[in-house]
Amino acid sequence: MNDTGFLSDIQTLRARARQHIEEGAVTSGYGADRDTVLKLLNEALATEIVCTLRYRRHYFMAKGIHSQSVADEFMEHSNEEQGHADRIAERIVQLGGEPNFSPDGMSTRSHAEYVEGTNLVDMIKEDLVAERIAIESYTEMIRYLGDKDPTSRRMMEEILAVEEEHADELADLLEDIPGDEAKH
Ligand SMILES: [Fe+2]
Ligand SMILES: [Fe+2]
Repeated sequence: MNDTGFLSDIQTLRARARQHIEEGAVTSGYGADRDTVLKLLNEALATEIVCTLRYRRHYFMAKGIHSQSVADEFMEHSNEEQGHADRIAERIVQLGGEPNFSPDGMSTRSHAEYVEGTNLVDMIKEDLVAERIAIESYTEMIRYLGDKDPTSRRMMEEILAVEEEHADELADLLEDIPGDEAKH
């Protein structure tokens, strides 16, 4: 402590940083339980990968039923989920962990499910359900991370904002689809 009462003095900070250089971005000021954070981040990673794959599948199937505009939306979401997965994997490595890309158990680690859907409306509904699950579990994660790991929290907040946009867009798509098209 220095005379401001809450900041460690610069020498102490530098000495501590040197002591644990092998820990990379994790300093002794890291307030979270790293194992728990890594587990949560790997679950979020699995969620993003499952969402990437589900949206990809929906893109190709929607194209087959001549819904190019909906298909394009699916592809855009798929690419954004892929971007989220990459950010989360990068953060896991920063924290000294290993991103789990193993297909074994991927759908169990994921919070959201991989549901193929039988028609266009089904696909949109399943995607909306998956987004809502992600929104809920990311909100919980953000609450857990709190001030203990502000960098991971900020990242998850940014991802959460995109999932909320996705959910909003899907809800709009559902409204726009006329009843007969739903039966394809
Ligand atoms: Fe995502
Ligand atoms: Fe999403």
